[in-house]
Amino acid sequence: MPATLRAYDPKDFAPLFKLDQACFPPGISYTKTMLRYFLTLPSADCLVAADEKRIAGFILTEENPPLAHIITLDVSEKDRRTGVGSKLLAESERNLQLRGVKTILLETSVDNEPAVAFWQRHGYRIEAVLKRYYLGRLDAYEMRKRLSASQGQ
Ligand SMILES: CC(C)(COP(=O)(O)OP(=O)(O)OC[C@H]1O[C@@H](n2cnc3c(N)ncnc32)[C@H](O)[C@@H]1OP(=O)(O)O)[C@@H](O)C(=O)NCCC(=O)NCCS
Repeated sequence: MPATLRAYDPKDFAPLFKLDQACFPPGISYTKTMLRYFLTLPSADCLVAADEKRIAGFILTEENPPLAHIITLDVSEKDRRTGVGSKLLAESERNLQLRGVKTILLETSVDNEPAVAFWQRHGYRIEAVLKRYYLGRLDAYEMRKRLSASQGQ
């Protein structure tokens, strides 16, 4: 799918919620209330990859320069390994850097091998293991990337 990137629009809420439910197990995926909360934070930014018919993925971040946090990155199963996640991340990193962000943090479950491989591929390094971070029993990696000077150009 030749997905185009655009800013989140409130009419995207239902498909984004559905996609997040499909991407993560119950308890790790966001409730409607949590997702709405994050999307409406003044410090949040959300980019959507979509064509006229459907949404292939989205990235949701929160920033407080020089730090930013990736809240979630979700790509629909049928669009995975086609570069959608990389495209969303590259654009988001570029925008964040233009707004003064130098370091990006995120958490991902230690058993989420595709995600860990994806983040490592994009220069994120494991900083710490957060014990029982998800559901009070699943450990998470805290991962970090320092943006390079050339990325925002
Ligand atoms: C992790 C995720 C966002 C990756 O998105 P994607 O669009 O499939 O990623 P891309 O196609 O841009 O992949 C880029 C590179 O990441 C790595 N990668 C991505 N998925 C991988 C997998 N399943 N196994 C191993 N490496 C993987 C590869 O190096 C890949 O390059 P390649 O396809 O040339 O080998 C997607 O799998 C997803 O939405 N998963 C469910 C939600 C989730 O776990 N989100 C991240 C946690 S916050």
